[in-house]
Amino acid sequence: MKIAIIGAGSGYMPGVVRGLLHRAGDLAGTELACHDIDAPQLDVMTRLARAMFAARGASFTVTAHTGLKPALDGASYVFTTFRPGGLAARHLDESIPLRHGVVGQETAGPGGFLMALRSVPILLEIAAAAPPDAWIVNYTNPTNIVTDAVARTTGARVIGLCDQFVGDTEMWADLLGLPFDRLEAEWIGLNHATWASRLRLDGTELDVPSLLDGLEIPGGGATPWRDPSRMAELAKSLGFLPNSYAKYYFFHDEVVRELRDKGTTRAQDILAMLPAYREQVAAESRRPDPDPSRERGGGEHGEFAVDVICALHRDEGRRTIVNTRNNGAIASLDDDAIVEVPAIVGRSGPVPLTMGALPAPVRGLTQAIHAYERLASDAAVTGDRRTALQALLAHPFVRSKHTAERILDEGLAAHREHLPQF
Ligand code: G6P
Ligand code: MN
Repeated sequence: MKIAIIGAGSGYMPGVVRGLLHRAGDLAGTELACHDIDAPQLDVMTRLARAMFAARGASFTVTAHTGLKPALDGASYVFTTFRPGGLAARHLDESIPLRHGVVGQETAGPGGFLMALRSVPILLEIAAAAPPDAWIVNYTNPTNIVTDAVARTTGARVIGLCDQFVGDTEMWADLLGLPFDRLEAEWIGLNHATWASRLRLDGTELDVPSLLDGLEIPGGGATPWRDPSRMAELAKSLGFLPNSYAKYYFFHDEVVRELRDKGTTRAQDILAMLPAYREQVAAESRRPDPDPSRERGGGEHGEFAVDVICALHRDEGRRTIVNTRNNGAIASLDDDAIVEVPAIVGRSGPVPLTMGALPAPVRGLTQAIHAYERLASDAAVTGDRRTALQALLAHPFVRSKHTAERILDEGLAAHREHLPQF
């Protein structure tokens, strides 16, 4: 069996290698065809992977490719985990909207829109070049827009991933004083816009509104990913759990002020730590039993992706949360929408579970985000400028036509070299 990893030079690769080691027995004998356009980073990561596999006696074969075709030929799974334009492009995604008073974020809002415009053409190229029966297991963001574009225009088998729900469930377990490993939250909605009104502890339903009534709002503690104080405050009003990205929707103007005051973008912060991180990983790759830093993607990211590939490959019928075609699972969204929803994953792909309607306070918001995402996907596929403008006009962050036009003009100009469709 062959798994192609597209974007294998990414800083997240050490976590993927750890995920593969975790399931080495189930994937014994697999070829990992590692692809990246950044040859030096690809070299470091493949050397690291080989050393880590050798140290643990894992029987993977690692091949390295800078051309897509040899990486994809004969692959059963195509794991996509790259960022077109890298962190320099992410900095533009984060800073252009902010100049116009709109949250600048890599996946949510206009920043994510610009990233979708860059990601989609490459995913379409990969889908066209991959074997027709291969599964594309996609982490490239914005994962549901990318998944939507691939699913609707190529007919390829595609599943969109995001491990956010794991970390968010952990945060809520902490906030509510419940044991994370015995807690199950049913996150439903759209990627980075999910909600959980049902929580189970050891399989028994909890009364979420009364748990939230008793919740005390903690002070501070915000990280780039989580803001427990705001999440607790919001959940107490909603009566169910919001995912971490809800802060951009419900605290938009405050977040704009904070991002402006902070002065640097998240991309710049990561770029500042990257040389030391890369040096550490490169040094480890030369050691007999490497233990690379967990600073990038050190958590559940890699294990989650490998578990999904195993679920498909071994027909495990594993219950997990993925991005896939709705097919009625969430009553409030179109059947052909790509939704994030609990699903049973086996050989024939994810089968989403019937979850009912979205909670009323966020139903309209989530439907609006879906309308935006569909337009964004269409714009990214066709390169049609009016559709692109319509996508931005439909987004809940954008409240003025002129703002949408300015962000679009600046975004298309800034990313020109990555936008062949425009
Ligand atoms: C979370 C999201 C991912 C996103 C990542 C960014 O894990 O679910 O979709 O790519 O955060 O993290 P970073 O450290 O790059 O800001
Ligand atoms: Mn994500």
